[in-house]
Amino acid sequence: MEVLARNLNKNKSESVRVAVRCRPLSKREKQDGREQIVDIDTKTSEILVKDESGSKRTYTFDKVFGEKSTQQQIYDEVAAEIVQSALDGFNGTIFAYGQTGTGKTYTMEGLLDDPGIMPLAFRHIFQNIAHKTLQMQQEEKSEPQHFLVRASYLEIYNDEVRDLLAKDVGAKMDVKEHIEKGFHVKNLVMEKVRNVTEIYNVLAKGKRNRKTGRTDMNEHSSRSHAIFTVTIESSIGKKIRVGKLNLVDLAGSERVSKTGTHLQADRTRFDEGVKINLSLAALGNVISALVENKSHVRYRACNLTKLLQDSLGGNTKTCM
Ligand SMILES: Nc1ncnc2c1ncn2[C@@H]1O[C@H](COP(=O)(O)OP(=O)(O)OP(=O)(O)O)[C@@H](O)[C@H]1O
Ligand SMILES: [Mg+2]
Repeated sequence: MEVLARNLNKNKSESVRVAVRCRPLSKREKQDGREQIVDIDTKTSEILVKDESGSKRTYTFDKVFGEKSTQQQIYDEVAAEIVQSALDGFNGTIFAYGQTGTGKTYTMEGLLDDPGIMPLAFRHIFQNIAHKTLQMQQEEKSEPQHFLVRASYLEIYNDEVRDLLAKDVGAKMDVKEHIEKGFHVKNLVMEKVRNVTEIYNVLAKGKRNRKTGRTDMNEHSSRSHAIFTVTIESSIGKKIRVGKLNLVDLAGSERVSKTGTHLQADRTRFDEGVKINLSLAALGNVISALVENKSHVRYRACNLTKLLQDSLGGNTKTCM
């Protein structure tokens, strides 16, 4: 976080925004007698971190949210604009980035009775489409607008891509480069979805596949990057507009000391950790380069950055 914070502090880019959400202490943390060392100042968008000596270090972001922030508030202030721009034919990406257990999945998916960014985005998309369709019917347009919404869901585990919606989830998918389309996954399943229930079912199906994909589901969930992509195509006559929304739940970064223990215990676990840190570092480099408006951005570093190339930079809106 520190490196990112330092780089993003000097954020000159309009297209990449960084919001930080601090979750409340968990029951376990309270039981262990831990203290809160993070303060937030929503007015100045600052995070104040107390170190051992009691002095405070300050980090500034585009937005900060404290432990009382609600899912709806995060959605309204962080996600809604990006989802809307995907509806208007642009590309947008929302990432959850952070250490294991910091609340990435909670913020992206949420709980059934407390939905996060993804379910709220699904609702936003189909409500918007229904609204436009109704408006067109009332105006009796001669050339009505048609919408086609598709969803794909993949995970990147150890830099290998798996299609969570495929019949054979375990199969390793190829990442190809196309002159116009850029990097893409060959034969990735794109499910046509017509309403909130259908798209939610796609998410649920992919999640199930993710769980059974490996023996230890806990380790798994924190050790793969998941990219859920919603493609929204709208057409009036021959005019077609396509917007793409990437909802990304990244693998949690881990402290080196933690990974170090894994090194002695389990070589595979260590290799996974190295891959996660490498890909997160590569993503950090790409985002820093974009923020600093550098001419060379190293998208080719790993599959994560390759697959997000057309969803980062350019006229894409990105929020981390
Ligand atoms: N803002 C919050 N309010 C209440 N509970 C939260 C909040 N954020 C996270 N939690 C809880 O903290 C726990 C860890 O969150 P979560 O699973 O989202 O972490 P994660 O960042 O996805 O971790 P990993 O990298 O291991 O996948 C969960 O039990 C979750 O319900
Ligand atoms: Mg998670």
